[in-house]
Amino acid sequence: ADEVGPSTKGSDFVVVANRLPVDLVTAPDGGTRWKRSPGGLVTALEPILRGNKGAWVGWPGVADADPDPLIEDGVELHSVPLSAAEVEDYYEGFSNATLWPLYHDVIVKPVYDRKWWSAYVEVNRRFAESAAKVAAQGATVWIQDYQLQLVPKMLRMLRPDLTIGFFLHIPFPPIELFMQMPWRTEIIEGLLGADLIGFHLPGGAQNFLYLARRLAGQPTSRGSIGVRSKLGVVQVGFRSVRVGAFPISIDSGNLDERSKLKSIRDRAKQIRKDLGNPKHIMLGVDRLDYTKGIDVRLNALLELLEEKRVDPASVAMLQLATPSRERVDSYVQLRSQVERQVGRINGEYGEMAHPVVNYLHRPVPRDELIAYFVAADVMLVTPFRDGMNLVAKEYVACRSDLGGALVLSEFTGAAAELRQAYLCNPHDLEGVKDSIVAALEQDRDEGRKRMRALRRQVLTHDVERWAKSFLAALSGGGVAGSALIAD
Ligand code: ADP
Ligand code: G6P
Repeated sequence: ADEVGPSTKGSDFVVVANRLPVDLVTAPDGGTRWKRSPGGLVTALEPILRGNKGAWVGWPGVADADPDPLIEDGVELHSVPLSAAEVEDYYEGFSNATLWPLYHDVIVKPVYDRKWWSAYVEVNRRFAESAAKVAAQGATVWIQDYQLQLVPKMLRMLRPDLTIGFFLHIPFPPIELFMQMPWRTEIIEGLLGADLIGFHLPGGAQNFLYLARRLAGQPTSRGSIGVRSKLGVVQVGFRSVRVGAFPISIDSGNLDERSKLKSIRDRAKQIRKDLGNPKHIMLGVDRLDYTKGIDVRLNALLELLEEKRVDPASVAMLQLATPSRERVDSYVQLRSQVERQVGRINGEYGEMAHPVVNYLHRPVPRDELIAYFVAADVMLVTPFRDGMNLVAKEYVACRSDLGGALVLSEFTGAAAELRQAYLCNPHDLEGVKDSIVAALEQDRDEGRKRMRALRRQVLTHDVERWAKSFLAALSGGGVAGSALIAD
């Protein structure tokens, strides 16, 4: 057949993600440079690709930019350019004002706009074409996340020789919510172009199997899906599409090592001093996103101060918030809400030169972030919904001293693994307050016991294990599901 094959040999391993691992930034003098992209997807995949010497296909992060392919750390970066209109309709619109809120339990109401959908189809086609050009004959292509759910099918039509994997980094929603999507069948069929579809949790994988039967009319296995085991199967003509749960993680060994460096420990001491040597430091680290429950933890803190369960002279909270999706309405609103809450707490309870909440609306360098983790007595991770939440795992990896306490929302993927955290329901403000107080007042031995158990999980389940288990299943390993049943 006359396929759209690569002119040169191409790469044997290709990652396709909406973003490249680095963003192109334009300096005031008009020159450009590259900077690390925000978010957990890049944190997780970067170490994997560096080890695999593959290629990465993605958007360079600004409208209309089309830089030449470049090689970074042995990885070939290929840009997919997006016009300003596509950034608005495909990225800010369909990806982040339709799919993101729909897949995160409709915390914000998803907008269903036909023009956005057309842009999503068009841009997914462009990513598929670009991947088809970059991949060598018989290569493995690993497509990432909700922005590119149509790419598996489109790519398979262009290049039937490829092995295609897909991983969803965000939650896959309950069936009743997914059914709202006007283009629900197209999305399920788009994903079914892959050989293996991965989710963080068995529940998401099971929801998908049900929808493959119901919407795409394909027979599927019925047995329950395990974690990295007992894959489900959808029969699509002669092809078997496998479906599984592969909880993502971090480069825990590397963080553990860095957190022990003298320079980082010294910096952590300095941070404590700069905050006025409070008895307790509380920390939040998030993209500024309404799924993260930053408002929940600020409300909890305000009430704890009002009720005098927390003494403003003995705590300092630090909230780091990376700017995110700044032109999408719900993000604009969230930013003003958080800034109002911080202002209110500091106005009522801060002292001159000693605010209760220190708020930084910017990304911080990696080593600085590690020093914050080392310094923090209580880490606050309170999302309403989060596919995994890598920050919770990063905090644990940085606590080789067995100090610190993790307050963690039950509605994160991480909560399935980090059972010894102070778990809380972010919709239950009294419960969140009680968890914070329990973490602040934890007995030293009890804290060490919890942290030891948390660390065992995070250090033995790192991102390399995640990638290896996914890629092993993609290349044919793993346990197949039970007999197929058609509805
Ligand atoms: P998401 O992918 O939704 O952003 P995760 O918690 O899974 O959420 O991943 C976020 C990643 O971004 C983590 O690696 C975290 O350390 C990093 N990050 C978040 N906020 C900041 C910040 N202010 N400065 C530096 N890194 C940050
Ligand atoms: C989450 C998503 C990623 C996304 C990241 C940053 O981690 O799962 O796909 O890249 O957030 O968001 P952004 O919109 O800036 O790419």
